[in-house]
Amino acid sequence: MEFIPVCEPFLNGNELKYVDDCLKTGWISSSGKYVKAFEESFAAYCGARYAVGVTNGTVALHLALVAAGVGKGDEVIMPNFTMIATAFAACYAGAIPVFVDADPQTWNIDIRKIEEKITSRTKVIMPVSIFGHPCDMDEINALAQKYKLIVIEDAAESHGAIYRGRKVGTLANITSFSFFANKNLTTGEGGMIVTDSEELYKKALYFKNMCFPLDAPRNYLHHDIGFNYRISNIHAAIGLAQVERADEYKEMRITNHMLYTEFLYGVQGITFQQSRDYVTNVFWMNSIIIDPVKYGKTRDQLIAHLNECGVDTRLLFKGMNIQPSLVSYGCDCSGDYPVTDWLSENGFYLPSGSALTRDNIESICKIIIDYKGN
Ligand SMILES: Cc1ncc(COP(=O)(O)O)c(C=O)c1O
Repeated sequence: MEFIPVCEPFLNGNELKYVDDCLKTGWISSSGKYVKAFEESFAAYCGARYAVGVTNGTVALHLALVAAGVGKGDEVIMPNFTMIATAFAACYAGAIPVFVDADPQTWNIDIRKIEEKITSRTKVIMPVSIFGHPCDMDEINALAQKYKLIVIEDAAESHGAIYRGRKVGTLANITSFSFFANKNLTTGEGGMIVTDSEELYKKALYFKNMCFPLDAPRNYLHHDIGFNYRISNIHAAIGLAQVERADEYKEMRITNHMLYTEFLYGVQGITFQQSRDYVTNVFWMNSIIIDPVKYGKTRDQLIAHLNECGVDTRLLFKGMNIQPSLVSYGCDCSGDYPVTDWLSENGFYLPSGSALTRDNIESICKIIIDYKGN
């Protein structure tokens, strides 16, 4: 069987045409028409008023925190089961990440366990819509209102996802996205924050570009510490072409998931992420959790077998509470996170790229079924 990568970018629209335009016209840095066009088209896609393009999803999170005024000693509540960038971004701002275990069905932050982590130092709740499944944002926003907190959603993995009829990007004070090559929409490397708040938008623009004044001539006096998080016109050109076909790419990811669940239906010992019935999960990645007793083989045995058969896989994230970097940073890593442990010890990603064919998925599932022990 041909090698099936875990995820490949899908670049079949106007990407080449727009990049060619950048190169031919010489507009290759962050000046150039594609940056604004990408920001405007992505904001419109999300249904948000403002968007700020940046160099990746990690700095997008940092910029969101800085724009929201988060600084030294502030606490940022986030899921324990997430990609390390969520926690690192809080550290860049001098803040303290505070962890909450995952919901056993959606694998998002467990909303029942957030309130007990709120202290007088808490400034932000940072939910992550993991693998494309939106969080329970009404409950999160209600808590934020009660305790006067800011909500910054890490939607790095959930472009186009929908929660109770509203798009991700409109559900928090600020929403942050990644456009890394494996994301449903990609620019190679890239990120974006979107918001409906003019104030947060202007702050993000200001800090993103070295704190040059937004409305005054440049005199090269800088009143705050700023960052160069500017996305290039070339990356934005790719992004614009991707947004033009965003719904198509989203459907391709959703179809992948439907095929996996259809072909693996009834196979004992395999658990998928359970979507709530009021969301559209965009299935950035199809992850499965193996119960070694019911499946008859361990997760690691299955991964090794799939890899021998030419099927690429990836392990799921490990908990923030066991990250040596975050322990040294001073995060409170005590307590138990049983759902995170279950996911990271037994789960992995199956190939999930937009361009997978029905045949690809059928043959991957056949390998999984044939390998099952008794
Ligand atoms: C949940 C989450 N947050 C943040 C990021 C960081 O995005 P980037 O890789 O573009 O810096 C990722 C990237 O995979 C992610 O999955």
